[in-house]
Amino acid sequence: MKKLSARRRHPLAAVVVLLLALAATGGLYTAFAPASKAKADDSAQSLTIEEGKKLYEVGCASCHGAGGQGTTDGPSLVGVGAAAVDFQVGTGRMPAQQPGAQIPRKKVIYNQAEIDQLAAYIASLGAGPSVPTKNQYSPEGADIAKGGELFRTNCAQCHNFTGKGGALTHGKFAPDLEGVQPKHIYEAMQTGPQNMPSFPDTTLSSKNKKDIIAYLHSVNSDQTKNPGGLELGGLGPVSEGLFGWIFGLGVLIAVAVWVAARTAKAKKS
Ligand code: HEC
Ligand code: HEC
Repeated sequence: MKKLSARRRHPLAAVVVLLLALAATGGLYTAFAPASKAKADDSAQSLTIEEGKKLYEVGCASCHGAGGQGTTDGPSLVGVGAAAVDFQVGTGRMPAQQPGAQIPRKKVIYNQAEIDQLAAYIASLGAGPSVPTKNQYSPEGADIAKGGELFRTNCAQCHNFTGKGGALTHGKFAPDLEGVQPKHIYEAMQTGPQNMPSFPDTTLSSKNKKDIIAYLHSVNSDQTKNPGGLELGGLGPVSEGLFGWIFGLGVLIAVAVWVAARTAKAKKS
């Protein structure tokens, strides 16, 4: 008994009690504070980033560098944003396989959850355009005519009038846009993959992007597909008319020559 009371009066006792009390209140506070949702979201987010980092190290780091800083085999991904990853991996372009003039679409090898994780990891390396929401890219309620106009001024020089695609220089090409998901069309405009220029919101507003998506959706949907029969590459009425004119005339001339040759032969014999 005597021993205990002696210890109680130890000069540091007060300090120890105070520290214990502080720790207890702190602990109680964290335990009972309104379960902060932001914190839960934060940890879910850091878990996603962590998973993305693992996938990245296995599938992408060999070309893009350990921290996304780039190597001679692939550019830096710092600041390209989640939208670029969602586009590149979601259309199967990435992971790239063999070097060539242009990295084409391939079979997609990651599922959407994994793509989201990769995108979260890359976005954590530096701020860049984020993946658009459904509301942003869904063609519903957009102005198709306006979209057609915008498409012809901004995109047709490479992708052709109805998005059928076309060749560019040095073995590169602008792909056919039929069947490309609205989200990927939006992201292509946001990020400008490879030889395509990017169209940030300052050049083409979010509303304009939606109009373009609606236009592409309408020219590629079944009811509007080639009402006049053979499509001739969707080059537009003038060039298609010209094709008919030249080709049709060519056939007529060939027939005339053949008939003339036969009659000449018949006369001789
Ligand atoms: C074989 C090498 C290689 C591998 C593996 C690879 N990439 Fe790439 N990546 C490239 C090259 C090369 C480019 C540049 C293409 C161009 O712009 O011409 C590129 C471009 C990109 C871009 C576009 C960057 C931009 O500026 O918009 C993203 C995003 C990307 N890669 C993500 C990934 C992810 C994620 C993985 C892993 C799933 C991956 N890459 C795997 C070689 C590779
Ligand atoms: C200077 C030529 C050029 C212009 C202008 C251009 N693009 Fe592209 N576009 C390309 C090239 C080249 C690619 C292929 C890039 C790649 O494979 O990474 C491409 C790819 C795309 C893709 C991806 C298709 C797929 O198969 O996944 C979409 C969508 C797209 N462009 C839409 C547009 C839209 C919409 C516009 C106008 C706002 C536009 N492009 C303007 C050259 C162009």
